[in-house]
Amino acid sequence: MLKIALTKGRVEQKFIPLLERCGIDCQPLINKKRKLIVNLGDRYQFIFIKGPDAITYLKNGVVDLGIVGSDVLKEERSEANELLDLQTGKCQFILAAKADFDWNQPKRKVIGTKYPVIAQQYFARKGEDVEIIKIEGSVELTPLVGLVDAIVDITETGTTLRENHLVIHEYLDQVSTRLVANPVALKQKRKEIFAFTDMLAQEVNRK
Ligand code: PRP
Repeated sequence: MLKIALTKGRVEQKFIPLLERCGIDCQPLINKKRKLIVNLGDRYQFIFIKGPDAITYLKNGVVDLGIVGSDVLKEERSEANELLDLQTGKCQFILAAKADFDWNQPKRKVIGTKYPVIAQQYFARKGEDVEIIKIEGSVELTPLVGLVDAIVDITETGTTLRENHLVIHEYLDQVSTRLVANPVALKQKRKEIFAFTDMLAQEVNRK
């Protein structure tokens, strides 16, 4: 049986329809309610967790595979083997602020983000020294209350930015959901893992 860590929320919502299109009956996943471990027959066991925890589970060998956003993989500097870009859960990293923020002001900027590593790397590449404040959620709130000057975050539809009157200053990397494996499982369950990967790849590449 393959043990698969599936990131709760946005990633899960786009992954389950993809799995259904592969001909797998996903009713136990759809009807899971508050259950955290769900088996699909005797072939797959899905474990529902937050993205960063998926990386921990993979590293510690308690799951074979992970379905995780590339944002989380980068932020956590994951060393898991990437098997497939599922091309779902697509969004974009952005730098944004209130419309009246002066980007040319000389003062050291304060940046709010759920992704301190990615934000740090971005400003280091630009050669700009900034202060980074780690935020756990609703990052868009932080410039509105005056905690930060700007944010580095992901956006999908742009609705949250728009409804909170924030303006995109720059587009950074693209984000999508990836299938990753722990290297030990890749050796021990090679056949099963590649059968699962091939099944998903066929569906992802279908035009
Ligand atoms: C992300 C991101 C934005 C929102 C943007 O948060 O941090 O808040 O999605 O989406 P939109 O462009 O479609 O409006 P997420 O929903 O992952 O939740 P979180 O803030 O609880 O982490």
